Amino acid sequence: MVAAPSLVEDILRLKKERNAVILAHNYQTRDIQEIADFVGDSLGLAYKAKETSADVIAFCGVHFMAETAKIVNPGKTVVLPDADAGCSLEQSCPGPQLEAFLKANAAKNYYVIAYINCSAHVKALSDCICTSGNAVKIVQAAPPDRPILFVPDQNLGSWVMEQTGRKMDLWKGSCYVHVEFTRDSIQAIKDQHPGAQVVAHPECTYAVRMLADEVCSTEKMVAYCRDHLSDTFIIVTESGMLHRLEREVPGKRFIPVPTGHCACADCRYMKLNTLQKLRDALRDLKPHVEMPEDIRARAEKPLLRMLELSR
Ligand code: 13P
Ligand code: SF4
Repeated sequence: MVAAPSLVEDILRLKKERNAVILAHNYQTRDIQEIADFVGDSLGLAYKAKETSADVIAFCGVHFMAETAKIVNPGKTVVLPDADAGCSLEQSCPGPQLEAFLKANAAKNYYVIAYINCSAHVKALSDCICTSGNAVKIVQAAPPDRPILFVPDQNLGSWVMEQTGRKMDLWKGSCYVHVEFTRDSIQAIKDQHPGAQVVAHPECTYAVRMLADEVCSTEKMVAYCRDHLSDTFIIVTESGMLHRLEREVPGKRFIPVPTGHCACADCRYMKLNTLQKLRDALRDLKPHVEMPEDIRARAEKPLLRMLELSR
């Protein structure tokens, strides 16, 4: 999609007037990625949000990512283009439900590791946060004498168990996009492109991960495809990732995988964001992220622990 020049000019002017920084996730549309100051995975975006000296963070991603930016840098105004940009993983683990579960299982003395795709309330109930980029490291750093409860993604959780050998109790959440990739759909594309490398996100199911040459976060996909000798890659994650790869790894071929509900594996939440909504958010400074200070302060601790551990 080619962005209207006046819209791009408006955004750049407003960005300057507001002293704003535009952060975008790898799943955003090409036009948003092109206008952003930084494009990355959840981990890279959390670091950028914490370190920025801008007054306003315009976060093009989903709500939990913008909320994370506010938690680690509360003095900033954090706006997002569409307040309805949620996440099926976040929805699968409501804070009150986790709170009740931990109360009912208090005797277990769980060490709770929460995938960053969750609400501030869930983060506030956790001991440490992780992303797909550092989950193995975070689990390896967990106290050896306490049982781990891993929330909310059962697929990322089982992949981490495979990698570390550490047993964990898993919350039964999943990403509605990644669980739609099937063994058969990947195999069919592999058959059409013999020799192509299959690169999958750890939110995919075990059956799909088994067919992958590499399982990693969206950021690590960029380095893997750049450094690998192969020139063709089957990309088993959300469609926006292909824009990032095509921009940063020119000359190689990236093949998307359709899901049952979508020819190109779009996340309906990520795709709610548009340049128009970004312009409006910078102009109106809303929608913006707010939360009770006690929740923010409690959620900040396990997030800072994560940032410290993954340096
Ligand atoms: P990454 O941190 O690997 O970018 O993953 C975020 C996400 O939402 C995957 O669906
Ligand atoms: Fe959430 Fe899945 Fe969308 Fe990522 S792709 S934001 S995990 S629904």
